[in-house]
Amino acid sequence: MSNLVNVTVTINGEERSAEVEPRMLLVHFIRDVLGITGSHIGCDTSQCGNCTILVDGRAAKSCTLLAVHVDGSELITVEGLGTVENLHPVQRGFWEEHGLQCGYCTPGAMIASIELLAQNPTPTDEEIREGLEGVICRCTGYEFIVNAVRRASEIMREENAVKGVK
Ligand code: FES
Ligand code: FES
Repeated sequence: MSNLVNVTVTINGEERSAEVEPRMLLVHFIRDVLGITGSHIGCDTSQCGNCTILVDGRAAKSCTLLAVHVDGSELITVEGLGTVENLHPVQRGFWEEHGLQCGYCTPGAMIASIELLAQNPTPTDEEIREGLEGVICRCTGYEFIVNAVRRASEIMREENAVKGVK
């Protein structure tokens, strides 16, 4: 008798289903089963945050959850943020302020930044550092990442001003 379990998620706006072993980690489900590889595995101790995605709007380290935990959930990975023609404000901030070097931590850093800015649209540099403390950048480009998130905050305010949002 098979012990596989059906997991259905909406990921980056698309519904996907697969039969998986109950012990499968969410990050392996996303990368190896669904073939969406932007979320990176940077450690085996749940420390680096490079695998961070949005689960029902909240940032979560996808190596700390099982795929079966998120059955029925809405997931957003870095691939779901924007397009080349229409970058998400956080992507624009990282682009404009060179918020990456090798880029390995960048998907997790951008997702964590989105949650931070949703909770605190005008963070101080100290609050940005605290908000992103769960993401380790092995290139140690932290100053550039802080600049990128500060710029993303400005871009969001500029876009909201254009839209008339207060
Ligand atoms: S791979 Fe998930 S925290 Fe490092
Ligand atoms: S940019 Fe290389 S790990 Fe962060």
